[in-house]
Amino acid sequence: MKTKLRLGVIGAGAVVREIYQHLYFHSRYSPLLEISAVADPDEGCRSWFGELAKLPANRRFADYREMLAQVELDAVQVNTPDHLHRGPTLEALAAGLDVVVPKPAAATIQDAHAMVRAAQKAGRFLGVDFHKREDPRIKEAEARFQSGRYGVFQAGVFYMLDKLLVADPNRSPRFFASPDFAERNSPVSFLTVHMADALMKIVRLVPAQVRATGYSHKLPSLRPRAVKGWDLVDTEIRFTTGAVAHVLTGWALPDTAWATTVQSGRLICSDGLLDLELDRPGLREFHAEGLSEVNPLFRNFEKDGRVTGYGISSPGRLYEQILAGRNGQLSAAERQAADEALTLGFYTTLVLEAAEHSLAQGRKLEAGATLGTTVDLRELAVRQIGADAACEYRLE
Ligand SMILES: NC(=O)c1ccc[n+]([C@@H]2O[C@H](COP(=O)([O-])OP(=O)(O)OC[C@H]3O[C@@H](n4cnc5c(N)ncnc54)[C@H](O)[C@@H]3O)[C@@H](O)[C@H]2O)c1
Repeated sequence: MKTKLRLGVIGAGAVVREIYQHLYFHSRYSPLLEISAVADPDEGCRSWFGELAKLPANRRFADYREMLAQVELDAVQVNTPDHLHRGPTLEALAAGLDVVVPKPAAATIQDAHAMVRAAQKAGRFLGVDFHKREDPRIKEAEARFQSGRYGVFQAGVFYMLDKLLVADPNRSPRFFASPDFAERNSPVSFLTVHMADALMKIVRLVPAQVRATGYSHKLPSLRPRAVKGWDLVDTEIRFTTGAVAHVLTGWALPDTAWATTVQSGRLICSDGLLDLELDRPGLREFHAEGLSEVNPLFRNFEKDGRVTGYGISSPGRLYEQILAGRNGQLSAAERQAADEALTLGFYTTLVLEAAEHSLAQGRKLEAGATLGTTVDLRELAVRQIGADAACEYRLE
């Protein structure tokens, strides 16, 4: 029986520094993983991770294809930017490896669909790390909602708002390494996907239409470097049942906010209402640096050096499933749940791509808002992946 997975890490940037290094080296999941190689074209990232993982020079690659060809692996984690998840994922699956990617599955449904298909064809495991799925409050909401306790979902509002320091390239040190972070990424690709995924996990509905409204006031006013990007985006998701949700995300909150990310959600249903106080996990700090809400549920640096929290257990559980699969111990029900389009993040990528289309086709007002068009998700899916595939995802 296998007790460890030989893992190749493709891409060792910010998400590895902030989250996955703790998973790999300081978590209860670390004994399941043997970090066998790294591939990253960026010399700085490659060396930083190579040193951390104590990898010899012949286990550090600029090109992931060379890593796949030269190192015996069981799985890879593809931590490249969203639009570069597809290539390494497809090649790793074709080489017989299991694959984990951080959220979102991909930037487009063409990519997400190709990844789903490739995993099916290879008979291998594909897992997407949406860590909010492991947040105990989301899990409890999911179980309660799906028990029928609140009746029919009618409307919802979710928000996830970062402090300006996350997007501001003028801040020193910068929060994200690249000065054009907030131009290359949008609040939709970075934040909306978390909330849209959590919402759809709870209500298990298929989205039918998306319309986004973007606001751009604060970011263009930043000095000396202005940012051509969104302060805030409202993504309206209409489901096939007629239910509607607004997911509001952005990164222009004053830095005095009580948390780096101020976030919450509310679901209104025919027989009840659910409030998710996501940014009030119960540990409040008064300190010379200010007043802040600490979220030990997400990432908790414990006294003995271990790192716990749902940011770690979410990808950790994916590796447990991979190991169980490799040992023939993943039940048919678990395998089926892992292979569902919802689990694989297909609908979340659909919402993401549609919101970006909506804004791109929208009408820009002089007052700084852009009124996006309504995007029909079935039409978008048929255009991008064809009618047959759209039907397979129940976009009929
Ligand atoms: N779980 C989360 O909450 C979370 C948080 C941040 C980022 N992410 C996701 O993680 C992914 C990476 O984001 P990031 O913030 O770390 O980005 P980043 O730009 O900091 O890092 C990406 C890394 O991938 C490397 N790379 C690019 N092309 C490559 C290739 N062909 N082969 C190997 N490596 C390559 C880059 O050199 C860089 O080191 C994205 O999909 C992002 O959305 C998830």
